[in-house]
Amino acid sequence: MIGLGMYAPPKTLTNDELEKMVDTSDSWIMERTGIKLRRIAEPRTACSDLCLEASKRALADAGISPSEIDIIVVGTCTPDMPLPSTACFLQMKLGAGRAYALDLNAACSGFLYSLSAADAMIRAGRGKKALVVGGEILSTVTDYTDRNTCILFGDGAGAVVLSECPDGEGVLSCHLHSDGNLWELIYAPGGGTVHPYGPEVAENRMHAIRMAGNETFKQAVTRMVEVSLEALQHNRVDISDVALFLPHQANMRIINAVGKRLGISEGRVFVNLERYGNTSAASVPIALAEAREQGRFAKGDLLLLASFGAGLTWGSALVRM
Ligand code: ACO
Repeated sequence: MIGLGMYAPPKTLTNDELEKMVDTSDSWIMERTGIKLRRIAEPRTACSDLCLEASKRALADAGISPSEIDIIVVGTCTPDMPLPSTACFLQMKLGAGRAYALDLNAACSGFLYSLSAADAMIRAGRGKKALVVGGEILSTVTDYTDRNTCILFGDGAGAVVLSECPDGEGVLSCHLHSDGNLWELIYAPGGGTVHPYGPEVAENRMHAIRMAGNETFKQAVTRMVEVSLEALQHNRVDISDVALFLPHQANMRIINAVGKRLGISEGRVFVNLERYGNTSAASVPIALAEAREQGRFAKGDLLLLASFGAGLTWGSALVRM
């Protein structure tokens, strides 16, 4: 990973503001989720606009120009349009003329799935440098009359520049899993082929995310622990070797429970969800960029990344920085 960058829109949505929109309270939200505020994109902002800002920062950090990028993978479940891909819009806006570009939808696991795909493409000789982005405008698929979900989500993007490197450096492993049987735990039914856009979708807010929060919570803890242990065992390393654990930022109680079961001290778990909420695919790369900014890891450190999301999907990556 030779470059990191993140971007979140400046507009905020606080718990106090949510109290005026639905029957909730700052104390309930803080106690149950740990979220204080979320960033919200202005209307008609494209997901690729957020990805562009994060990508420019990651490219500047890597010290390379867009023309040096061979592959662009964007993890998102809130694309600019059903087609073409958000990655193609990003390629155009960046002027990354040489790159081939594709989107990948694994909801909140979108970044780790994209990282795994780009890493495999580089290893297969399909390019030397990849731009891997997680970007979301979840505010466009959030029902602000549903207190169960509207307190959770925010907008943002994070980007990483991957470059080919010797074995034993960079991305050491990726482990990915899915269970489509549990799709009904988190889904947004409207706008696809099953419920195409029309009056039914608009009247019933079917474009918005529906979630069985409690069952999702339990699955998130179990699966993120499992897949993190899988990464450690595969690489024959102990949790004490990990300098920083960067889990998907969905809920403070999920992060605490996962950290506790993995036996990692709080000081080695990165948390920023109080300022962004759940940004889905953007959550892990935003965390990476902020953690580096805060000096939470150094070159050569071992980082453990883990995520969980709709699908269900979950995954982990062990990275030597
Ligand atoms: N304010 C006040 N009360 C609320 C609110 C709210 N915003 N939301 C729900 N409640 C109420 C419920 O109605 C319920 O009331 P009842 O007991 O009278 O029925 C009570 O609070 C408890 O509800 P639970 O759903 O059991 O609350 P829980 O402690 O599970 O917290 C939460 C809910 C925060 C959603 C939690 O379950 C969670 O974080 N789940 C995981 C979410 C997640 O990780 N998603 C990741 C994937 S998202 C993606 O892929 C895009």
